[in-house]
Amino acid sequence: MKPIHVGLLGIGTVGGGTFTVLERNCEEISRRAGRAIAITVVADKDLTRANSIVNGRAKVIDDALAVVNDPNVDIVVELIGGTGIAKELMLKAIANGKHVVTANKALLAKHGNEIFAAAQKKGVMVAFEAAVAGGVPIIKSLREGLAANRIEWIAGIINGTSNFILSEMREKGASFDDVLKQAQQLGYAEADPTFDIEGIDAAHKLTIMAAIGFGIPMQFEAAYTEGISKLTREDIQYAEELGYRIKLLGIAKRKANGIELRVHPTLIPTKRLIANVEGVMNAILVKGDAVGQTMFYGAGAGAEPTASAVVADLIDVARTMTVDPEHRVPHLAFQPDKLSDIAILPMGEVETSYYLRLRVQDKPGVLADITRVLADLGISIDAMVQKEPSEGEALVNIIMLTHRTIEKNVNAAISKIEALPVVASKVTRIRLEELDK
Ligand code: NDP
Ligand code: HSE
Repeated sequence: MKPIHVGLLGIGTVGGGTFTVLERNCEEISRRAGRAIAITVVADKDLTRANSIVNGRAKVIDDALAVVNDPNVDIVVELIGGTGIAKELMLKAIANGKHVVTANKALLAKHGNEIFAAAQKKGVMVAFEAAVAGGVPIIKSLREGLAANRIEWIAGIINGTSNFILSEMREKGASFDDVLKQAQQLGYAEADPTFDIEGIDAAHKLTIMAAIGFGIPMQFEAAYTEGISKLTREDIQYAEELGYRIKLLGIAKRKANGIELRVHPTLIPTKRLIANVEGVMNAILVKGDAVGQTMFYGAGAGAEPTASAVVADLIDVARTMTVDPEHRVPHLAFQPDKLSDIAILPMGEVETSYYLRLRVQDKPGVLADITRVLADLGISIDAMVQKEPSEGEALVNIIMLTHRTIEKNVNAAISKIEALPVVASKVTRIRLEELDK
């Protein structure tokens, strides 16, 4: 059979990995796909670097639009990133009747509804396994492997860079800035690393998983996003002492009144498997009504792990490009006209437990004042520890873990507690999930 001709846009970290993996495993890949898959043309802004990777084995140009318009290209692989030129190129490729493979979660989370509608109209596929959790095949699992289930919740460590930073800080006492630099050198971090450390990249991926899990449109703007940049070593240490580890989690949960969609640092019991996922590794827990909890684990970033997902998509597209579009797996797992309009809940309506750290004066009646505020708002305390003050210090740290409660009640309690004259500074609040049911 005639080989599939692929046009590659961007031969940076993931593009380079894709070129290497596709070439190294070409024989196995063609046995799987039923025909050879070959990158015939590569577009990149940096021709010198691109030529050094390609080394004469494909045409190298600097005009990405020419690839998208090339009649000999069957599948366009977009690995430029971002929501600017990448969007234009992808829509043009679709308009030209080409299938697209991408790792661009930012683009799909923000403009996926438009892109999938365009692809459906043209009868082409947009495949995006690499957009979530690098090499972990979570899209295929959610879309196909778990298709029998009503998905109840998804909770994942889905940003390798921030997990790498948290692990190195906790295990080696490394500084935040040093570890971030290392993640950038290793090719894990986004072009703008604030996407990693402020939870935006995780929110992009969570948006995509929630859409597929619950059959809802992409709603990135409705996701709550909080990163790891304000976490202190002190809280990481206190959490450990209480039997919890802090991870940046993306959580999507189906509730009776809507869907929770949130990314934030989260205390998880250290005994849970997912709490022990370290470094650049990602893990996603999916709770289905029939299957119960399932966990997917693997490298969430890096050249070849991400290429693994890109190439798997290429094989999938090669296998199904001759199938009638109506008989392919829908982009968001549910038929496009059957997507639900169930609302994303505002953060104030979210229900979870909390770690609260308060700096207070060490004198009688302080605890009574604080617990009264919590009791008045119906917030029940699960555990409480008062730390010894350092020598010469008049203030002490009190750490409280609450039972599950509604976030707006905790917000109200924090405002009241901070107004108490015995409370010396802002309350530190970190959400806590047991992830047990
Ligand atoms: P890189 O920056 O390493 O690669 C992007 C490449 O595209 C660069 O070589 C860049 O050239 C080139 N480029 C930029 N603009 C153009 C253009 N207009 N025409 C042609 N080439 C262009 O990024 P990554 O490989 O890390 O990421 C690519 C995508 O994969 C992103 O969407 C990212 O979010 C996603 N991703 C990345 C992962 C990772 O581990 N790195 C993991 C999972 C997903 P130049 O450098 O000269 O600008
Ligand atoms: N910057 C991302 C991460 C790349 O660190 O997880 C993978 O999507």
